[in-house]
Amino acid sequence: MASLYIIHSLLKLAFLCSFWHIITPLSLTYPAVFNFGDSNSDTGGLVAGKGFPLSRLNGQTYFHEFSGRFCDGRLIIDFLMEAMELPYMNPYLESVGSPSFQTGCNFATGGATVQPANADSMNPFSFNLQLFQFFRFKKRVLALLSKDKELEKYLPAEDHFKKALYMFDIGQNDIDGAMYFLTSEKQVIDSVYKLMLDLNYGMKKLYDAGARNFWVHNTGPLGCLPRIIATFGKDPSNIDEHGCIVSHNKAATIFNQKLRDICLQFLAQSPEANITYVDIYSIKLNLISNSSLYGFQKPIAACCGYGGPPLNFDNRVPCGVTKDLNGTIVTANPCNNTAEYINWDGTHYTEAANRFVADQILTGNYTDSPHLGTTPFVN
Ligand SMILES: *[C@@H]1O[C@H](CO)[C@@H](O)[C@H](O)[C@H]1NC(C)=O
Ligand SMILES: *[C@@H]1O[C@H](CO)[C@@H](O)[C@H](O)[C@H]1NC(C)=O
Ligand SMILES: *[C@@H]1O[C@H](CO)[C@@H](O)[C@H](O)[C@H]1NC(C)=O
Ligand SMILES: *[C@@H]1O[C@H](CO)[C@@H](O)[C@H](O)[C@H]1NC(C)=O
Ligand SMILES: *[C@@H]1O[C@H](CO)[C@@H](O)[C@H](O)[C@H]1NC(C)=O
Repeated sequence: MASLYIIHSLLKLAFLCSFWHIITPLSLTYPAVFNFGDSNSDTGGLVAGKGFPLSRLNGQTYFHEFSGRFCDGRLIIDFLMEAMELPYMNPYLESVGSPSFQTGCNFATGGATVQPANADSMNPFSFNLQLFQFFRFKKRVLALLSKDKELEKYLPAEDHFKKALYMFDIGQNDIDGAMYFLTSEKQVIDSVYKLMLDLNYGMKKLYDAGARNFWVHNTGPLGCLPRIIATFGKDPSNIDEHGCIVSHNKAATIFNQKLRDICLQFLAQSPEANITYVDIYSIKLNLISNSSLYGFQKPIAACCGYGGPPLNFDNRVPCGVTKDLNGTIVTANPCNNTAEYINWDGTHYTEAANRFVADQILTGNYTDSPHLGTTPFVN
């Protein structure tokens, strides 16, 4: 334990000492990508797996057909795949249309948590289940390829499992759910600690199975989502200068500090691993607080919602839904110019915002890769 602590401290020091490194734009080259996560990176998994009735307005800006994404267009992961010159990812759970998994597979599903799902969870495909799915996928692929090499047209080649990028974007739903009953900072820290054990365990399992390249998104400013502001925004002392909920952003920050620690710990335990920690929180908070600088007009209003300014969000009338509110028929329609909005439906970002975030990631200004010696930011 003590020696681990020393390694940990040394790594931290290394992190700080490499601060002077010149930041270069990222160039990502991997033959395949495997992704684990929630709606932030779900490319159709929940819709395929649960027949989830996602409004058809999703996809109106880009795919123009049902894409199963919680967005008017592309997600951050779609832009990252474009940058890697790889096709968009197919969900593991997609059974129709002969999806190709040659360049990877997406296990992310909307609503997924790190914490194992139970009978009350809206989404059964929590992180542990996504890992089981991955290991089943890999075993099946290797068995099939051993019988028929031709299948490499549709399945990842064996050595791609080692060379692939393993991406993670999960935890937002755990904090979101927990904040309905956690009150003290101590409780938040305790609950986040449990999540980190599960994440670390999962990454280690993948490493032990040969995964070497890891890419971890931290969680965004949860307190700036219109749905959270609408629900928790009654107490003015809990609202910051941007209109965001202080307690939720604090919880997200605690989660991120622990996540960064766990990435370092994982690295100390896994000498051959490369890991990149991506500071999504800072990118999104910068976007929200400096929205007009980046061409956005509405930092905290939902594009597709009901209720009008400032939030245009009403929990009873989700995007695309028509409802009778005390005899008045109302519909949550999308805004006319989605590119002016950061938020799409109260919980998810617009394609325009996702593009901004991906562009910022690719500058290299918000990524930490300790083994690669780039450390542009220090928390
Ligand atoms: C980690 O990254 C370094 C630098 O890009 C690279 O030389 C090395 O091969 C990578 N390690 C693995 C296991 O891919
Ligand atoms: C907003 O932009 C200003 C000026 O570029 C910068 O100093 C500040 O850090 C930004 N805000 C956030 C939250 O990043
Ligand atoms: C409907 O009317 C009732 C009684 O006037 C009121 O308490 C409630 O808030 C109203 N609900 C909506 C959705 O306006
Ligand atoms: C969109 O534009 C039309 C025509 O200018 C206008 O009638 C409508 O109210 C606008 N919708 C929204 C949600 O702003
Ligand atoms: C990275 O951030 C610095 C400081 O804010 C800025 O000057 C620089 O232009 C950024 N680099 C890129 C590639 O955007």
